[in-house]
Amino acid sequence: MTPAPADPSPSTPHSAAPALAATMAAWAESTEKVPIASLRRFCESVLVRCGVSADDAALTADALVTADSCGVFTHGTKLLAGYVRRLEGGGIRATATPRVERDGPSWAIVDGGHALGQVSGAFAMRVAIDKARRTGIAYAGVKHGNHFGAIGYFPCLAAREGLIGIAVGNDIPSVVAPGARVAVTGTNPLAYAIPAGAHDPILLDMATSTVAGGKVYAARSLGKPIPADWLVDKEGQPTTNGHLYPDNAALAPAAGHKGYGIGLLAESLAGALSGASMMWQIGNWMWGAAETPTGHGAAFIAIDPATMTPDFQSRVDYLIDEVHRAPTAAGIDRVQVPGEREWQARRLAEQQGIPLPGDVRKPLAELATRLGLPVELPDQPTSPRSKARP
Ligand SMILES: NC(=O)c1ccc[n+]([C@@H]2O[C@H](COP(=O)([O-])OP(=O)(O)OC[C@H]3O[C@@H](n4cnc5c(N)ncnc54)[C@H](O)[C@@H]3O)[C@@H](O)[C@H]2O)c1
Repeated sequence: MTPAPADPSPSTPHSAAPALAATMAAWAESTEKVPIASLRRFCESVLVRCGVSADDAALTADALVTADSCGVFTHGTKLLAGYVRRLEGGGIRATATPRVERDGPSWAIVDGGHALGQVSGAFAMRVAIDKARRTGIAYAGVKHGNHFGAIGYFPCLAAREGLIGIAVGNDIPSVVAPGARVAVTGTNPLAYAIPAGAHDPILLDMATSTVAGGKVYAARSLGKPIPADWLVDKEGQPTTNGHLYPDNAALAPAAGHKGYGIGLLAESLAGALSGASMMWQIGNWMWGAAETPTGHGAAFIAIDPATMTPDFQSRVDYLIDEVHRAPTAAGIDRVQVPGEREWQARRLAEQQGIPLPGDVRKPLAELATRLGLPVELPDQPTSPRSKARP
């Protein structure tokens, strides 16, 4: 989710579909918005305090703040406190440098060295991009990784340079397989970014479960109900009781056997092919011992359309225009392609700041207090005095 959209102008003419309208309404309603630059600086200072180099801190901060600015609050700066716990414990190696362990003309196995997942992920995506420029298509797998956050950040690094980017990651089992009563696969995220000409890149960034587990935690802490298709209890039945997760309920796979099958593909590319930990071999990044590396894996694929189809981007524009021309159901202004709501949120955040929800502000404010950092991040979106300093 990182490149500036193809046309960053907020005045890009289009009518808003309901999801976009909801995004804009949420932005307008929030009285306290944190400027992107302030939030990024805060994250950087936290990470540097933990021994991370300035470059790696900047990259990781950018990935986290980009997720928030795109409205993906489950996988933005809310993750920072958990990363700090592991950096302090040693499970994330603050000074580790990812390296190519083995490679060929169009593939590489990257040893992440247990660095921050954002650091090894960006490194591997860069390796895949460079190789794809020479060969047309390339794969880079990461072993000894860590939690990779919002995995859409990485394919966007490719799309920013005109390449198609694809990324998958693995995680500990938290998702039932069809017919099972317990978690079998991880939420194993999948993302792709497709560069267009006049339009923003198409960006799909999703868990292969119905939703990411973070949405259950967020709904719980914000007191919101859980839809019936998110969780399956220990009897294998749907449940709306979010408090059962993760010990007594598992996430449902997205679209049943289809999400389950794609989750296995993600595990095969991110874990089996890369040599990373798989399934229950992976450490629990959130609740596990902070001194133990998690061993997450991920896979990054880059495809260079310029080597195959020089007018690719205008063909993608045609594809998007055709989607936008689809007749809509009642109450829908326009059919969207994946990523549109995120680009729209990003534009608003660039103009107005990020309306961080309470469940994100609170751990950030606690972190600032604990580390004694001279950055104020309010836990209540009310007082202008408590706004993050620019
Ligand atoms: N690191 C990890 O281990 C891990 C695991 C799981 C999920 N995640 C992250 O969690 C985040 C949230 O995942 P999720 O599955 O809950 O997200 P989600 O269900 O909200 O799906 C998001 C995707 O669907 C697209 N989308 C939504 N509505 C659309 C519409 N009407 N038309 C077209 N496209 C539409 C969005 O543009 C986006 O690409 C992602 O960033 C993902 O990478 C990370």
